[in-house]
Order: sequence, then structure tokens, then C-alpha cells
Amino acid sequence: MKKNININYEHFKGRNELSEVENSLFEKAIQARENAYAPYSNFFVGCAVLLENGEIFSGNNQENAAFPSGLCAERTALFWIGANFPDQKIKKIFIVGGPKEFSETNPPIPPCGACRQSIIEYETKQNENIELYFSNLNDEVIKVTSIKDLLPFYFDGTFL
Ligand code: THU
Repeated sequence: MKKNININYEHFKGRNELSEVENSLFEKAIQARENAYAPYSNFFVGCAVLLENGEIFSGNNQENAAFPSGLCAERTALFWIGANFPDQKIKKIFIVGGPKEFSETNPPIPPCGACRQSIIEYETKQNENIELYFSNLNDEVIKVTSIKDLLPFYFDGTFL
């Protein structure tokens, strides 16, 4: 029997289509991106995370000469939050990425597979969806209401 999975997402084409809180997350992600340590790929990623208490924390990619020892922006932010605010629910994640010298043709950068898996873990832990936004620097933004839209057939602790 053939089955089908539908993925829902929104596509915004300008900051005027975003709410105030979404715009401030966008701004924080851009700022975080500027401090990325990415001398090997020259691909700069910033991530801003909104917690239920209203605080916003950010992260960026941290590379290493031994390539697998580096870490993506999303997990840099999420693991720090997990370590310091383990009981705070995560409401929104905003990601901005692209080559250091950004061009108008760079598309919004979706989270990599390992980051999707990590975000699923926090959704499962808090039993509440996390809204996820990813963007380029040309104010083009894609939003999903759960990382599950980007990772159907996900693996989580219920299988263990
Ligand atoms: N990168 C992220 O920070 N997040 C992603 O979701 C995609 C990739 C980083 C990892 C590496 O430092 C650089 O982008 C190129 O892959």
C-alpha cells in the first residue's frame, strides 16, 4: 500500500511578514552568525533560541582542524541551553546561514540531519513542539511548526 506524508511550511519574503519576536530572533541569529568560528568552511551560521521565560540565547558554528570535532550553530546553542536551563521549554529556534560573503542567490539554510535529530530530542523531552525558522540574509524565511516536518520517521527514545 502506498502512503503519502504531507509537509507543512510557511515561506516569508520579507521582515514585514514577521512578528516582533520573530524579527528580534532574526536579528539575534544574524549577530550570532557574525561571531561564528568557521575558518575551514567559511560558511557562517547563527542560531537564536527563544525560551518560555522570554529569554533569547544564541549560538554559532564552531569548527576545528580535526573536522568532526566542530559543532553546528544549532547544537552549540541547544546544548548550552540544555546544560543551563534544563527545565525551560524551548519555544522557537531561528537559524541564519550562508557563506561568509553572502550573495543574493544564497537560499535559506535548513538544519543538517544531526541537528534535526537533536532538536527532536528536545521536543520529545519537553513534550511540546518547537517552531523552527531558517533564513538567508535576504530576509527570506521558511517556518515549520515542528522539526518533525523536516524529519518524518524520526527516531526517538520511545523505540528504546
Ligand atoms: N552548519 C551549521 O552550523 N548548521 C547546520 O545546520 C548546517 C551546517 C555548519 C557546520 C560547518 O561549520 C559549516 O556549517 C559547513 O558545513
